[in-house]
Parts: sequence; structure tokens; C-alpha cells
Amino acid sequence: MTEAIDPTTLTVGVLGGTGAQGKGLALRWAKAGIRLIIGSRAAERAEASAAEHCQLTGTENITGADNATCAAQADVVLAAVPWESHADTLTGLVEPLRGKIFIDCVNPLGFDKNRPVPAPGRGGQRRPAGRAVAPRDPGDGRVP
Ligand SMILES: NC(=O)c1ccc[n+]([C@@H]2O[C@H](COP(=O)([O-])OP(=O)(O)OC[C@H]3O[C@@H](n4cnc5c(N)ncnc54)[C@H](OP(=O)(O)O)[C@@H]3O)[C@@H](O)[C@H]2O)c1
Repeated sequence: MTEAIDPTTLTVGVLGGTGAQGKGLALRWAKAGIRLIIGSRAAERAEASAAEHCQLTGTENITGADNATCAAQADVVLAAVPWESHADTLTGLVEPLRGKIFIDCVNPLGFDKNRPVPAPGRGGQRRPAGRAVAPRDPGDGRVP
């Protein structure tokens, strides 16, 4: 049986962690004692978010970096970018994501005032963007 991993020994990177979904997860993980790297297309935006997240959690567990550095330095990487940029973002990060545990929370959805709606131009169909990095055979769960 695989041994359980102590999550507090891991660094989790959040691609697009400057957005609402990434922030919500990052704050909770940081409070649980996990080290976080907030990723962004712009390192300075990520650093500003990380500073705010540290203040909100009362921890020093969170730093910021551009998405490629975030992916390279983390053990576990969460994709939390909009559907429209999902494929391009992941395709550009194939190399830094090798060997990482990859979590994808991106949905082909947008939101109107009251409810989720299909993302523009996608008709609600999931495009397999995660295949840019995710293995078809999960193996040990890491990106090959
Ligand atoms: N599974 C679930 O339960 C669940 C729930 C809610 C949301 N979601 C999914 O989580 C994802 C993120 O949601 P969100 O509301 O946090 O999204 P968001 O705020 O619109 O975007 C998140 C971040 O993505 C980056 N981004 C924006 N446009 C981009 C582009 N063209 N290329 C690359 N990066 C871009 C931005 O960061 P920078 O400008 O700093 O790069 C932004 O802060 C969505 O795909 C949504 O469907 C899932």
C-alpha cells in the first residue's frame, strides 16, 4: 500500500491563484499549514496576492511567482485559470509540470447573475486540455 503523504511537507502551486477560486483554496490550505506558491502571468501580481493572503491567514506560508516558476517549484500544482485559457496555459507548462502531482479544477463554465452557464463557444462540452500534461494511465499520479 502507498504510504500517506504529510501535506505539510509539500509545496502547492496555484496557477491563476490571483483569482477567486485559487484564492479560496490557497487560504484554506495555508491555514492548514501547507506552503503555497501563487502563480500568475505577472510575478508582481502573484507577489501582491501572496502578501494579501499571508495577511488574511496570519501565516508566512504563501509566496508569489509567475506561472512557470510556480509550476517548477511546487510539488503539487492546481490549475485555476479560466476555461478559455486552460489549454494554452497548460501547453506552455508541460516541461515544468513533469513529475508533479497535478490537480485541475477548471470547468467549461462561466457565470451569469444567477447560475453557471456553458463557457462561450464550448456548448458545455469538455475539451480535454488537461491531456496536455495529464497521463492517460494515472500510474503513480504524477505528470510523466
Ligand atoms: N471545480 C469547482 O468547484 C470550481 C468552482 C469555481 C470555479 N472553478 C473553476 O476555477 C477556474 C478559476 O475560476 P476563477 O473564478 O478564479 O477565475 P478568474 O478569476 O476569472 O481567473 C483566475 C486567474 O486566471 C488568470 N487568467 C485570466 N485570464 C487568463 C488568460 N487569458 N490566460 C492565463 N491566465 C489567465 C488570472 O490571473 P493573472 O491575471 O494574475 O494571470 C486570474 O486571476 C475556472 O476555470 C472555473 O471554472 C471550479
